[in-house]
Amino acid sequence: MRQLTTPEQAREFVLDRRFRGHTVGVVPTMGALHDGHLELVRQAKQHCDVSIATIFVNPTQFGPGEDLDKYPRLLEQDLSLLERIGADAVFLPSSESIYPPGFSTFVEAPDVGSPLEGVCRPSHFRGVTTIVCKLFQILPATHAFFGRKDYQQLKVIEAMVRDLNIAIEIVACDTVREEDGLALSSRNRYLDSAQRIQALALSRALQRAQAMATAGTRQTEQLEQAMRQELDGHADHPGVDRVEYAVVVDAETLLPLTDLNRPAVALIAAFVGQTRLIDNRLISALI
Ligand code: PAJ
Repeated sequence: MRQLTTPEQAREFVLDRRFRGHTVGVVPTMGALHDGHLELVRQAKQHCDVSIATIFVNPTQFGPGEDLDKYPRLLEQDLSLLERIGADAVFLPSSESIYPPGFSTFVEAPDVGSPLEGVCRPSHFRGVTTIVCKLFQILPATHAFFGRKDYQQLKVIEAMVRDLNIAIEIVACDTVREEDGLALSSRNRYLDSAQRIQALALSRALQRAQAMATAGTRQTEQLEQAMRQELDGHADHPGVDRVEYAVVVDAETLLPLTDLNRPAVALIAAFVGQTRLIDNRLISALI
């Protein structure tokens, strides 16, 4: 596996493959890799001739008081996981090479970034669009792979690529979960064993919303109420400590929806202790 450390080296690696007519798939990550990330790399290997993961804990997407300083950094472990699944290259830029002194140009997030995470984490998506746009410039790949786990992020990136005419195909990959339903996340390692059980309330709430929709409920307000009940917890299932949002919205715009008459997605953000968890699921209604 080639380790690329400077933007120049990384760009040259990709351009060389492109000139030879190869397709190149890039998988942006912040490291602390788990099977969700590795699934994206597997998809990149399957779809493309060449696969490249990037590992960079991007400071501009963390707000004041968020977990930038304590975000897990496990480089040696990450490299051996990527090597083992056969990634062709990994891009490991330094902070200084990405944000040199005097850096001052940002990519404004599109409208789909305004609700939900946009309210809870006001400058988060501006940091995401800026770094992802930069990565697409440094690595002029044919395809880029993103997880549905971060559903709003995926929609933000799809809109950015469309709005700015970036010549890359975005491939969305399903959320990888533990057997008990918990969505894999680098932040799960902050949870102790009691909190790990509390965290199951998120996937349970999403399942309950889908079960109600399958049984014929069409009012999003009723689905949201049931999700909040599940997140609060009950006798044998402890709940989360604080809910930031638990909504069923339009799956494309992420704007409110009263009835399941359009493709819909249920999205949750909640705290378990100090750890902020997000999860989502597309909701299919009876026709
Ligand atoms: P990170 O949280 O490391 O996630 C990297 C990619 O892995 C994202 O596309 C995310 O949606 C995907 N992912 C995470 N958990 C997943 C799971 N359980 N199943 C499937 N995919 C999963 O998202 C970021 O980093 C950053 O914002 C980034 C895009 C790299 C920009 O800095």
